[in-house]
Amino acid sequence: MHWRGLIDRYREYLPVTEATPVVSLCEGNTPLIPVDSLSREVGDNVEVFVKFEGLNPTGSFKDRGMTMAVSKAREEGSTAVMCASTGNTSASAAAYAGRAGMSCIVIIPDGNIAMGKLAQALMHGAQVFAVQGNFDDALTIVRDITDKHPITLVNSVNPYRIEGQKTASFEVIDALGDAPDYHFIPVGNAGNITAYWKGYVEYHNAGKSTRRPRMMGFQAAGSAPIVLGHVVEKPETLATAIRIGNPASWKQAEAARDDSGGMIDMVTDDEIVSAYQHLARVEGIFVEPASAASVAGLIKLIQSGFFKQAKNAPPTGRKTRIVCVCTGHGLKDPDNARKCSSVPISVPASIEAIMEHVCLDLSR
Ligand code: F0G
Repeated sequence: MHWRGLIDRYREYLPVTEATPVVSLCEGNTPLIPVDSLSREVGDNVEVFVKFEGLNPTGSFKDRGMTMAVSKAREEGSTAVMCASTGNTSASAAAYAGRAGMSCIVIIPDGNIAMGKLAQALMHGAQVFAVQGNFDDALTIVRDITDKHPITLVNSVNPYRIEGQKTASFEVIDALGDAPDYHFIPVGNAGNITAYWKGYVEYHNAGKSTRRPRMMGFQAAGSAPIVLGHVVEKPETLATAIRIGNPASWKQAEAARDDSGGMIDMVTDDEIVSAYQHLARVEGIFVEPASAASVAGLIKLIQSGFFKQAKNAPPTGRKTRIVCVCTGHGLKDPDNARKCSSVPISVPASIEAIMEHVCLDLSR
């Protein structure tokens, strides 16, 4: 079957009509990869999966929201889109706007976006402004500009973004035959946790699942406004994608947490790096650091004994299923990848020189 993108697949659940000029790169349909090393750690009769959103066309989950936002902008006659971004939104907006023949203007925090994402926005022809400020400053500016000028705002405060992104929950349920018990997710501007929860609730109401998962959101410890209960003026983390101190969908994220009986907690940069390395080395899944926050959260809870507490015990008779969303591809951030791994060994071009350095682990 030719997969034609998520608007085509989930049209009946989306605010589109036959008149909507669909702008698609055949996004969605991303794999749900079993992660056995973590399943074993959680306990018996548990299955952990990574929903690898890095395999969308521009390498992140943003494409799900962008196919909707750009299609609707075009339907409404708009000729330009704009966003603030820590990188992925700008890459996706630039690609979809380019495909739609629209102008794209993006504002990024100078010096704090991963190189691959900047390259994408530039290659796809966006006008890129690097502001001397953080994401929160950039978002304030684009909200103001798009209020006053005929330019469509395509940050996740645009409701069509959330509509597109909710389809990832539909895919999880379609793949597993029901909703998982737990859904782990990184939280930055908090649009995605809002979207996933909306998707789980809608599919449940449509009779596609018998339950709804507990939403388990994780912020980076240096950028954890929701956990701390106040705006963080100077957010910091190596996971630049979620370096956000005042999330636009703060209230909706809290509602997702509370309505689902879940939690929003934080993980340190060390915990993020350790999950980032584990996924790459042990599971063959190369994600960007922010994406590893979901898995870092799961590891944190495993280590704290969370899954051993009676109230979190698996219901008898069936497997406990845990889904961790990994939101973006590791190739976007080559600088962090290099910082978090070993360097190549420089050797003369001879068999002897190489064999002198090769490490063979015969226990594997
Ligand atoms: N993971 C990645 C890789 C991201 O790029 C983002 C957000 C998130 C997680 C958090 O998702 O904001 O919906 O809570 N990136 C935005 C951007 C802010 O501009 O690309 P969220």
